[in-house]
Amino acid sequence: MDISEKRREVKKKLRKLEGLPTLPPIVQKLNEMIEDERVSLHEIAEVIEKDQVITTKLLRLANSAFYGFPKKVSTVQNALMLLGVNVVKILIMTSSIFEIIHKEDVGLWEHSIGVAACCKILSERAELKEPQEVATAGLLHDLGRVVEMVSFKEDYEKIILLSQKGIDPIQAEKSILGLDHSEIGSFLMRLWNLPDRLIESVSAHHDVEKAKKFRKEAAIIHLSDVIIHARGYGETLRKKVPPLNPRVLKILKLSTEDIKNILLVLEPRLYELKFFTEELRREMEQET
Ligand SMILES: [Fe+2]
Ligand SMILES: [Fe+2]
Repeated sequence: MDISEKRREVKKKLRKLEGLPTLPPIVQKLNEMIEDERVSLHEIAEVIEKDQVITTKLLRLANSAFYGFPKKVSTVQNALMLLGVNVVKILIMTSSIFEIIHKEDVGLWEHSIGVAACCKILSERAELKEPQEVATAGLLHDLGRVVEMVSFKEDYEKIILLSQKGIDPIQAEKSILGLDHSEIGSFLMRLWNLPDRLIESVSAHHDVEKAKKFRKEAAIIHLSDVIIHARGYGETLRKKVPPLNPRVLKILKLSTEDIKNILLVLEPRLYELKFFTEELRREMEQET
């Protein structure tokens, strides 16, 4: 099979979401409510609260260190106010994916939440509006990798082998699947109707020039990815810290001194994240 045929086949499989969890029905209901201006936050909270499992997952994520709220988020209505309806919707949609990430590859999970935390700090610095949305994009940036692991197992094995031989993981993905994880992830996010800001920044996180409207967001994910790698929370496929595109520092108007300061803010948050991950791991071990 030639590579463009393979690429078509991969996309076809993604459309059917084989092997991946389907969206819970509550998401459909939430979509309708969010669009209806007469619906209040309180009513939305009531709908979410009816589902105990979703409520627990949502509060657990809202309290994780990547959003870095100083006080505990203890009610759904609080989460809606602090995070915004859109972020809450995305967290509900993707909570089953997070569980898969955690089960399949703890390293990738730690990498993802580390990147999310760093994205939050950088987007606050850059004074972007709704930094928690950029944090959520950071959380999802390597979603395509999870999909490869779960739905393209055999191909993923081949990608691992190539990477072990020293081939760049992104090149390896392209040569085996016809597309890389940033394209797979953003393709799925488009199918799920997530906001363009998230889709474009995830799609361009290894190639910032690809971003048209949301270049700052893409630059933030790119830089966070490099920083978190350098801090020792790397992806499984890549042993070395990925190269930093120097344009990113210009886009974000950051100096090396600024990066040092950012690392100081990031450090305690990473420590909390480690704690959160371990807690989650214990919980999941008890469940199984
Ligand atoms: Fe990536
Ligand atoms: Fe990454």
